Amino acid sequence: VNHLLGIKYINKNDIDLIFETADHFKEVINRPIKKVPSLRDITIANIFFENSTRTKLSFELAQKRLSADVISFSAAQSSVKKGETLIDTVNNILSMKVDMVVMRHSNPGAAHFLSQNVKASIVNAGDGAHEHPTQALLDSYSIREKLGDVAGKKVVIVGDILHSRVALSNIYALQMQGAEVKVCGPKTLIPKYIESLGVKVEPNLRKALEWCDVANMLRVQNERMDVNYFPSTREYAQQYGVDKTLLESLNKEIVIMHPGPINRGVEITSEVADSGQSVILNQVENGVAIRMAVIYLLASKIQ
Ligand code: CP
Repeated sequence: VNHLLGIKYINKNDIDLIFETADHFKEVINRPIKKVPSLRDITIANIFFENSTRTKLSFELAQKRLSADVISFSAAQSSVKKGETLIDTVNNILSMKVDMVVMRHSNPGAAHFLSQNVKASIVNAGDGAHEHPTQALLDSYSIREKLGDVAGKKVVIVGDILHSRVALSNIYALQMQGAEVKVCGPKTLIPKYIESLGVKVEPNLRKALEWCDVANMLRVQNERMDVNYFPSTREYAQQYGVDKTLLESLNKEIVIMHPGPINRGVEITSEVADSGQSVILNQVENGVAIRMAVIYLLASKIQ
């Protein structure tokens, strides 16, 4: 398949190959000359219908490190605002001889829909509350880097599971690699289907943290939140936020992850975010190598 639409559509062998390829590219981007000429004949469009800092810049940098030609499109400044459809927009971009499209969209299934309707390789950079596959890959890669392996590790995903594409992609990726996954958060932010995925719910944050090796602290997605969702931000921080006192009172040293952007003082305090137990900036660093690997492997099927 010439697309990366979600972790659901790939397997453990694909993940292993992506990680091996990312290992090579991580070494490349730490050299004085950070570029390779691999994709000089490939043109990639990054089309973002939702805001992004990390994912958009990380994809752009990954593509440039591979020597691809890159165009970036932000829906807010485009003719989408004049009513142009998604398919018309992308077909117009493709007629400029573009080979691959990286897309973020607020609708679940948007990347899959595009893959069915245009002739290009599609990479999902986040589709609503559905999947964010490269985030899950860089998260697992960061666990592997920190703890040696993902298999056998206990990972708790904390917070706003209901609105999170990061949660679903992480659950698929972690289970595929043999990790055990629990979720922890307010009942109103845990989807009913979660246990059907083989994921246990631990409502008590302290118990969840005492159980796990890794805590992935999700962002509370205020922009997707219904006003009636309990709890308030202050109550959330009190019941589900991690501070230094809580972290230091645990019976072991756990790894703290966060996909970003952080609501400092809500999901985690600044002391936790900036502590030695946090791998948050390692996740961002690894994102470039992971996205280089994904694009390189997909492009090898185009060339
Ligand atoms: N983690 C993540 O997707 O961040 P951005 O929304 O800034 O891309």
